[in-house]
Amino acid sequence: MLTDAWGRAVTDLRISVTKRCNFACVYCHDEGLGPVARPGAPHGEELTVEEVERLVAVGREFGVRSVKFTGGEPLVRGDLEQIVARTVRQVPDVSLTTNGSLLAARAESLRDAGLKRVNVSMDSTDPEQFRAIRHGALRPVLAGVRAAVRVGLTPVKLNLVVFGPTVAGIPKMVDYVRGTDGLKLQLIQFMPELVQHERWAVDLAGVRRWLEEHASQVLVREMHHRRIYRFGPTEVELVDPVRNPEFCANCHRIRVTHRGELKGCLNRNDDLVPTRGLNDDALRGAFRRVITERVPYYGGYITDLGSSSVGLPMVAERTAVEAAAPAGEPDGADGRGERS
Ligand code: 5AD
Ligand code: SF4
Repeated sequence: MLTDAWGRAVTDLRISVTKRCNFACVYCHDEGLGPVARPGAPHGEELTVEEVERLVAVGREFGVRSVKFTGGEPLVRGDLEQIVARTVRQVPDVSLTTNGSLLAARAESLRDAGLKRVNVSMDSTDPEQFRAIRHGALRPVLAGVRAAVRVGLTPVKLNLVVFGPTVAGIPKMVDYVRGTDGLKLQLIQFMPELVQHERWAVDLAGVRRWLEEHASQVLVREMHHRRIYRFGPTEVELVDPVRNPEFCANCHRIRVTHRGELKGCLNRNDDLVPTRGLNDDALRGAFRRVITERVPYYGGYITDLGSSSVGLPMVAERTAVEAAAPAGEPDGADGRGERS
């Protein structure tokens, strides 16, 4: 077991298998590594199947219990099934974060390779708005979500980044997930620091209030004190990592960049530890080193993207969700009777 100086055991490994992506979301932080590359861009530096396998093996020695693949868009890689299959032999809990656009055709082969669950980024149920935010089409993503549910990669968690352009659509998104079996919704606070768009940040108080008022039940997760809002058969969670030391106190995750550097915190780039070409012992040393450099809270260490970004206060725009849904009832909502 690898535990950092603040008592956080490292149990999750989040591995970026590519920097390439076929979308170009306006909010994308690409794991804190700057803009994604186009799908056809050179990709010789990406981790190989064998390199992923070895990183997972050493992670497992140190107590890693779950692995999540991410990107960029992991499905731009044709060998993702192989990567999953080799990983799952060592760590059974393997999941994937994807933009969903290429998922319909591969949900089954990924499930057969041993994948357990997927997170699909879906910020809006409206095709035009979806395209404005992500520079990609909604329809294939919906097909991907359906395929993932059909083959049992459930619960399929939909990620919605909460920022200026998405707040008003939250009620519709909640309606969509509660109308489709096998879905959950994660409302992820927009992280402004990594993309230099402080203006887009919204005050989550309005979103929280809307959830409190409309959920049929509110549960509090013991570990994180995170709230889970039940909407009939499904759950909606609000993930608020921005300048939140309590979130960091519960972070049991380290990351691996597509080039194979270990990364102790999403919000830092000053702690990257290269692993390429290391023998097994040196690789173990690299894991220890990145853990040693973990800080309890990223506040003072944030990725330096230039002076225009660092240290600016967050601006809370008044784009409260209530303003978008004044009467409080999302379109077509029924079954409100279950509120307790
Ligand atoms: N703020 C919050 N979440 C983000 N994601 C990407 N960029 C940001 C950001 N700036 C999330 C998206 C995607 C996942 C890979 O990371 O929800 O689903
Ligand atoms: Fe970034 Fe994911 Fe959007 Fe691609 S789909 S641009 S990796 S957030």
